[in-house]
Amino acid sequence: MKGGVVVWLCAALLLAQDAVAKGPAASAAGDESSGWVLRREGSSSYACKCYPGDSCWPNHAKWRKLNATVGGNLKVNIPPGAPCYNSFEGPLGEVNTYDEAECDRVTSNWHNEQFQIELPAASLWTYFTNDTCRPTTNPSDTCTLGYYPVLAIIAKTAGHIQAGINFARENNLRLVVRNTGHDFLGRSVGWGALVINTHNFQDIKFTGQHRSACSYRGSAVTVGAGVQAFEVLTQANALSPPKIMVTGECATVGVAGGLVQGGGHGPLTNFYGFLADTALQFKVITADGVLRTANAKTNPELFWALRGGGPAAFGVIVEATYKTFDDKLSSGVHLDIDTSHTTNATLFWEAVRIFHGYSTHFVDNGLYVYYELGTTGQNLHVHPFVGIGKTPAELQAVLQPMWDDFAELGITYTTSSANYSTFYDLFNAMFETEMAGNSALTGGWSIGRRDVEDSHPAIMDAFQTIVGAGSFMIGHMWSAGHGLPRSEWGSSAVNPRFRTVVDKLITVVPLAGNAPLADKAAAQDKLTNVVDAALRNAAPNGCAYINEADPYEPNWQHAFWGTNYPALLRIRQKYDPNGVFYAVSTPGTEKWEQIETGTRLCRKL
Ligand SMILES: Cc1cc2nc3c(=O)[nH]c(=O)nc-3n(C[C@H](O)[C@H](O)[C@H](O)COP(=O)(O)OP(=O)(O)OC[C@H]3O[C@@H](n4cnc5c(N)ncnc54)[C@H](O)[C@@H]3O)c2cc1C
Ligand SMILES: *[C@@H]1O[C@H](CO)[C@@H](O)[C@H](O)[C@H]1NC(C)=O
Ligand SMILES: *[C@@H]1O[C@H](CO)[C@@H](O)[C@H](O)[C@H]1NC(C)=O
Ligand SMILES: *[C@@H]1O[C@H](CO)[C@@H](O)[C@H](O)[C@H]1NC(C)=O
Ligand SMILES: *[C@@H]1O[C@H](CO)[C@@H](O)[C@H](O)[C@H]1NC(C)=O
Repeated sequence: MKGGVVVWLCAALLLAQDAVAKGPAASAAGDESSGWVLRREGSSSYACKCYPGDSCWPNHAKWRKLNATVGGNLKVNIPPGAPCYNSFEGPLGEVNTYDEAECDRVTSNWHNEQFQIELPAASLWTYFTNDTCRPTTNPSDTCTLGYYPVLAIIAKTAGHIQAGINFARENNLRLVVRNTGHDFLGRSVGWGALVINTHNFQDIKFTGQHRSACSYRGSAVTVGAGVQAFEVLTQANALSPPKIMVTGECATVGVAGGLVQGGGHGPLTNFYGFLADTALQFKVITADGVLRTANAKTNPELFWALRGGGPAAFGVIVEATYKTFDDKLSSGVHLDIDTSHTTNATLFWEAVRIFHGYSTHFVDNGLYVYYELGTTGQNLHVHPFVGIGKTPAELQAVLQPMWDDFAELGITYTTSSANYSTFYDLFNAMFETEMAGNSALTGGWSIGRRDVEDSHPAIMDAFQTIVGAGSFMIGHMWSAGHGLPRSEWGSSAVNPRFRTVVDKLITVVPLAGNAPLADKAAAQDKLTNVVDAALRNAAPNGCAYINEADPYEPNWQHAFWGTNYPALLRIRQKYDPNGVFYAVSTPGTEKWEQIETGTRLCRKL
């Protein structure tokens, strides 16, 4: 296409406002014939989605018809550990499941991320599956569905996704979109749900010169909904010259599902902002089942909302197009301080204070810093400091003030340094492989530049409170406002406060998903009111990140989206007025609750 044609096309598209067909009228009043199930809990009344056993649950003929529409890719979901049990007692009946070889395979792969990712509806963090039916050596134990979904569409085409959305909407079913299952907040599982699994959308297409979004003319890549970071980065690295794109620090997270809809931060964030900031276009299916293009000119509001406005809130992404960039030589440094260096707690926390006090200095010099604090009690594990475009000498120059301060206080540590001809090589060599199959309640908060400058002692007190409470933290130092021009800060829906954040923390409260309910309530209370409260109080200029947060973050609208929330709420009401989609604490879910011990999803009347 020649330039003139492109300009004309853009002008024409500009005239096409966000247009959305009206869905079926809301039947919020909730009579069973309309598919709503009325329930009471405490003193409240609820209109709930339709579940197995309810009279509105679709009959066999309807499911058969759906199965035909999705090319036979509808599967009854059986929990992954079921082959280790004699039988599985699911909502659709009891089936014999024992299979020794399969059980061995599941058991030995349980902590392998890719194994869990490729299952229809497993969750890498098991807390929100209710930790039911884990692999066992006792086959006579009970295997139930817990909070795993009931059925899954293993979608292969956009038509399959449309069929799933339409079926869930028409029958008022709980719908869960599931890509890799990395979600920390339980958003890729759901009791009694129908899943749309997007893992098979694996197309990757590079272009040297992107053309359709009007203003940007650089290199780009279009990825299917199921593409994971390592796939696209490996292919991008094979190009000449090697290219990179913004991804998370974790190679197995998807790049077109939850990551971009939450924002998506990573080692390149200092240069290009969030993954969402680099998005050029989405193909997305909205709650009415319509496949839409969303970019700066077509459906611009939807485009904006999909860029950090919250996962599974505005539609199902089928494919996404992102900017790509030239890769650069890079260097990295590891740092460990633990009880092998000092058992003196005062000295250890002095080391943490020194390290963390330089967070603004690190990001101002373009460093990305990934660290863990308190995973084994008294330990700091920086893995690694990353200098993209920096030689080892340049990286060490940025770190030198920290080394000097350590030396002055007699702090010893272990460190190593490495350099690579590309960031891609560093990414593969220096970042550690992460594990699936563990259970924990996770939360998080981020720290603003002003918090570090004005009240660093309070931040250190908060860190000690958290580690002292038996929790630990994963920190990510970057600045999403460092390289991205100010004029582009508003092009994503992420909380505007993120542009001045210098450290984004995940907090972890380890707990089995099948722990007694009282223990779960106590852990949730500790996460919200002790661990995260300590950070919120110490860092009033920070905010929370929807993908790495307490699902029950207080005042979540403000914490996750700040001044962007009212616009997101309006867009949600326009594209999904009846709540076909649901993910906890996303725009427009104020009236929705999972009642009856986290099972039935209902709208409060
Ligand atoms: C080990 C690990 C490391 C991580 N590192 C980072 C990091 O460096 N940076 C960062 O920003 N985040 C990071 N995260 C958090 C990550 O952003 C979230 O877990 C994210 O939700 C993963 O998205 P997914 O699509 O891969 O996973 P899923 O669990 O499959 O989906 C997550 C959410 O997105 C929705 N969703 C998925 N696909 C679609 C789609 N096509 N259309 C609409 N909705 C969809 C799901 O319904 C769900 O609500 C990390 C998580 C883990 C477990
Ligand atoms: C859907 O159809 C396929 C192919 O006929 C079949 O194998 C599968 O069991 C069906 N799914 C359900 C839930 O019946
Ligand atoms: C989930 O686990 C809790 C215990 O933590 C249990 O009381 C509850 O019945 C379980 N629910 C389901 C649906 O498995
Ligand atoms: C621990 O370290 C602190 C700070 O350096 C020092 O003041 C204190 O004397 C040390 N305590 C012991 C028991 O060595
Ligand atoms: C690493 O650095 C050394 C010198 O410091 C240099 O000779 C070498 O080429 C570098 N390697 C890469 C892969 O950049």
